[in-house]
Amino acid sequence: MSNLSPIDTAKFVAAKRAVEFVEDGMRVGLGTGSTAAWMVRCLGERVREEGLRISGVPTSTRTAELARQVGIKVVSLDEARWLDLTIDGADEFDEDLNLIKGGGGALLQEKIVATASDMMIVIADPSKKVDALGGFPLPLEVIPFGWQTTKALIEETLSSMEVLGQTGTLRMNGDAPFITDEGNHIVDLHLQRISNPRQLSLVLNQIPGVVENGLFIDICDKVVIGHQDGKVEVMDINEGTLEEGLVEFAEAENLFADI
Ligand code: 5RP
Repeated sequence: MSNLSPIDTAKFVAAKRAVEFVEDGMRVGLGTGSTAAWMVRCLGERVREEGLRISGVPTSTRTAELARQVGIKVVSLDEARWLDLTIDGADEFDEDLNLIKGGGGALLQEKIVATASDMMIVIADPSKKVDALGGFPLPLEVIPFGWQTTKALIEETLSSMEVLGQTGTLRMNGDAPFITDEGNHIVDLHLQRISNPRQLSLVLNQIPGVVENGLFIDICDKVVIGHQDGKVEVMDINEGTLEEGLVEFAEAENLFADI
């Protein structure tokens, strides 16, 4: 019997199913966040136990550290150039498999890595599925120079967009601004509902000082949703399919206790 919490069980189950898509010799993008961390552990287990030979491109220093710890060979994106597959978490996904990402502050590397992949698989628990994106604050990576002016410009731009809320807040880490792996800040936009995510993404990226936004449009191919009872659903946007399965999770916490 597993002592994992229901939410960790759901994340583990999604991760376990998703790493089945990884094949010998693949170059794999490794996402960031608590769900992605389960995926890195599950992938490490396949490397150690099956001798799976893969190269992993991490999307943050946190993920790079964990990947090395579990035995995955870590290479840079410039070394790998192009990836077979990226597996990452998300803060929200809609029925078109468009995403909000960046809750963990790694959206820039995550978007570069996912875009440089033949396939992106998102792993999630059921709470991440939404009818319309925007309930989760949309992260924007902005350069520190003049960030307050940039934020004011962003808010002014939002007043002409189809969104319910229009305010942004600078993400903090204790008393200081949060700093991304690229040395930038994050402004979180409280939009509540985004009617046209594609248009919003294009418009936000036109603003000087905005490096990238957390909307992932037409990037994700599959979402693997894990449930606390071991049920797993795989939604494939290209095939238009929804497959269901079951993942054994009783051993989950023992498997990783020694890492
Ligand atoms: C990090 C991300 C994460 O994938 C997203 O925040 C989901 O994280 P978690 O799996 O911990 O809920 O985009 O920048």
